[in-house]
Amino acid sequence: MYELSNRNVLLGVTGGIAAYKAAELVRRLQDQNAKVRVVMTPAATEFITPLTMQALSGEPVHLDLLNPEAEAAMGHIELARWADALLVAPASADFIARIAHGQADDLLSTVYLACAAPKFIAPAMNQGMWAQTSTQTNIDALRKDGITILGPDSGLQACGDIGAGRLLDIDQLLTQVSAHFSRGALAGLNVVITAGPTQEAIDPVRFLSNHSSGKMGFALARAASEAGADVTLIAGPVSLNCPENVQRIDVKSAKDMLAATLEQMAGCDIFIATAAVADYTPLNVANNKIKKNSSEMELTLTRTEDILATVSALPARPFCVGFAAETNDVISYARSKLERKKLDLIVANDVSNSEIGFQSDQNKVTLISKEQALDLPQMSKLSLAAALVDEIGQRYKSN
Ligand code: PMT
Repeated sequence: MYELSNRNVLLGVTGGIAAYKAAELVRRLQDQNAKVRVVMTPAATEFITPLTMQALSGEPVHLDLLNPEAEAAMGHIELARWADALLVAPASADFIARIAHGQADDLLSTVYLACAAPKFIAPAMNQGMWAQTSTQTNIDALRKDGITILGPDSGLQACGDIGAGRLLDIDQLLTQVSAHFSRGALAGLNVVITAGPTQEAIDPVRFLSNHSSGKMGFALARAASEAGADVTLIAGPVSLNCPENVQRIDVKSAKDMLAATLEQMAGCDIFIATAAVADYTPLNVANNKIKKNSSEMELTLTRTEDILATVSALPARPFCVGFAAETNDVISYARSKLERKKLDLIVANDVSNSEIGFQSDQNKVTLISKEQALDLPQMSKLSLAAALVDEIGQRYKSN
């Protein structure tokens, strides 16, 4: 399985003779089923045409920061949020200097600054430029910021010099970017995840439910599987495809979800509850469609059992991770759920913001344990799931 399959890779191309290799890179990323969009600096367009990159990527190439038409189509912030990985190849000495100093004076450097996804910089330049103290200081600054530097390679250069500064071989670039998404943080573990809403029947044609799309839970299932876990996904009614290598169990009501979850608890190492489970369900379900005989109707609801709290109270309980969907006092409500349900971790998200939370492709959360709180900035649910899986894996191991 390709680690970059269905990943959104934003490829930045800067000005240098190695820019022509970016064309091959687009193709090779696509061979791995990655979705590729290209941003070029003005200098890059002197070495390879945007038309070539557009034809290869099948997507409009992004060039200008201050072009109202381009911004209206997919602006720099949307591009930054779209990316699951930002790869700049080749990265010139000038571009490296600008990003090392937080400058954002063209589209690519602005996207770079705004992007919360993992970033990979593949330098390519003359060996003398690479060896310069200023370049090395800039590279060190990027490494300290957690940026992955890929290469450069050594050998004969286009200018005739011999030394370090060649763009890393494309196979190696792909291997290193892919490796980032396959670190195996949950290798060998059994993970059970609940996702989506539940539906609580009122009569044969009506039900109570909520806005959960299942995207967050499905992204976590995919990330956990890619991190080496054996994943069972217990899904309420959603219209999403099951991630590869994940066992899916479909359920409707909170009661069904509880039963399916408890059946999966033998041998479960980590339980992650992303489902938006109904807290109340109709006390009685009508056998036939209820007729609208009066202007008002009364429905008596009864509390559902809390799946997460039930799992957390099991004698041989797994490591328990809850989600808290809140609209106000997000952190303090999440903390009280962590304590009340006796969880190891809780992920707090603000569902009052339509850009994140329910149904959105993006989320922004705080991961809370008894000891600490870690803010994870707004990013795609896939990237966030990968970051959460890393954190959960580390905390599980040190538990
Ligand atoms: O599905 P998406 O559209 O991608 O949206 C993602 C999300 C907003 C649904 C998700 O990120 C999220 O916050 N999920 C938890 C929603 C929720 O029900 O939160 P809660 O605060 O009501 O419940 C706290 C925890 O207890 C949750 O882990 C929940 O799964 C669990 N719970 C709640 C009630 C119940 N009867 N059983 C439970 O297991």
